[in-house]
Amino acid sequence: MKGATPQGAHSEREAAVWVRGMFARVAHRYDLANHLLSFNIDRLWRARTVRRMRPILAREDARVLDICCGTGDLAIALTEAGRARVAGSDFCHPMLAGARAKMARRKAPALLFEADALALPLRDGALDLVTVAFGFRNLANYAAGLAEMRRVLKPGGMAAILEFSQPPNRLFAALYNFYSRRLLPWIGGAISGSRDAYRYLPESVRQFPGAAELAEEIRRAGFANVRYEFFTGGIVALHMGAAPRNESHPTAPEASQIL
Ligand SMILES: C[S@@+](CC[C@H](N)C(=O)[O-])C[C@H]1O[C@@H](n2cnc3c(N)ncnc32)[C@H](O)[C@@H]1O
Repeated sequence: MKGATPQGAHSEREAAVWVRGMFARVAHRYDLANHLLSFNIDRLWRARTVRRMRPILAREDARVLDICCGTGDLAIALTEAGRARVAGSDFCHPMLAGARAKMARRKAPALLFEADALALPLRDGALDLVTVAFGFRNLANYAAGLAEMRRVLKPGGMAAILEFSQPPNRLFAALYNFYSRRLLPWIGGAISGSRDAYRYLPESVRQFPGAAELAEEIRRAGFANVRYEFFTGGIVALHMGAAPRNESHPTAPEASQIL
């Protein structure tokens, strides 16, 4: 369970460069492709994720970061759901530009910054909640991504990872695999003009660990109370875990200013 390995990438660095370039190429059509290819169900997945996080989002003093925020849909939903201060980060500038424009239209004042999820510019223990929707799978090193999420969380803070998974029902899985491997690259390619991006999508889902294995990896990264639930028959899974409470982190005055 190392990380995303796009074809042709021979190192973590090359994988990250490929992923960033690929999202830069599809950024202008990312939302349209997303909503069409998922029949708009992606909105429900994010809305459900937000509902699970409500107790944290209701707190005015809570600090939340949506990493790999892309064009900002989850960051906006988190902002609109409560009173917590929400920020979004991503390492792909065109995706962030899309997020900025959308947030201005929606009057959702989340702060945005450009950052690699494997090296966040935040102090240890700065956050109450870190979320990631459909970005974790793209990280070049999953263990490093989890370690970084844990590092920036306060003791007791939550991590929430919404990601594609493998449906446990074999018939449903076969139907879904036919759709995602045969049809999706054509439709996604036609919408975005980049067929390789939508060939990478099902391939990266195929290589990604199943829900139980990912939960185990999250536990190995030191998270407590790790659990997951499937959405839409297991096409997607939401994993949640808490940073252990008995850790002493330095306090983070700069982080509270940033967020
Ligand atoms: C499939 S998009 C998901 C965007 C958004 N979270 C959503 O729900 O639509 C994945 C995003 O992860 C970002 N990403 C991938 N690897 C990253 C990394 N190492 N650091 C920061 N962003 C990363 C990409 O640039 C892209 O915007």
